Amino acid sequence: DASSNSAAKKAAGEAAAELVRNGMVVGLGTGSTVAWTIKRLGERVREEDLDFCGVPTSFQAEQLAIESNIRLTSLNQHPVLDLAIDGADQVDINLMVIKGGGAAHTREKVVSCSAKWFVIVADQSKFVERLTWPVPVEVIPIAFRLTGRRLEELGGKPVLRQGLRKDGPVITDNGNFVMDVDFGTIEDPRSLAAKISLIPGVVEHGIFDNLDELYLARAGGMERIKRA
Ligand code: A5P
Repeated sequence: DASSNSAAKKAAGEAAAELVRNGMVVGLGTGSTVAWTIKRLGERVREEDLDFCGVPTSFQAEQLAIESNIRLTSLNQHPVLDLAIDGADQVDINLMVIKGGGAAHTREKVVSCSAKWFVIVADQSKFVERLTWPVPVEVIPIAFRLTGRRLEELGGKPVLRQGLRKDGPVITDNGNFVMDVDFGTIEDPRSLAAKISLIPGVVEHGIFDNLDELYLARAGGMERIKRA
């Protein structure tokens, strides 16, 4: 149910905060699970004088880090991160990932690909045999009709993501639109990812193949699954 789900998010998020050591530069992800990581890191700064720098993946992550008294830096100053921690919308048994439910996947991909070790925190509802989540695709606004047609040619059903309390489309932190593209069950995520990347107007899609370690909160406790 909803409350055990949020308890699991908290457990996974807080557990991953223990990975951070003095002197590290760490990518800080977006969403409600990794928010627990960021808050726990703020406690560790207060309680143990933990000395590290964060690189936020979104406006939300930046705000939360500031509230938590976490020192921030940029990829320009620190191009290689020791670690990045983030949430996900779905992770499959081969550790392929779909992200972007919060429309932050472009920065999340750049930050996680800049890290030597990429960790995802999730509750067990996200862990699936095969990916089925609609793939978020960030597109530049003038391209969305063309991009939508090309995504249909790949077998997808694209929907322009709409704002909740805004008339009109969601605008990302980068000033672009997001299309959520239902491909049903994705048989070959790597090949789909490569095809979407070639479409004109696409900034970035939400299929990630760079996960190193999953912190999965299950009913029976935490499971850590590393890339083989
Ligand atoms: C942000 O765009 C997403 O990639 C998030 O990381 C993802 O939606 C996870 O969110 P929750 O932890 O809130 O489920």
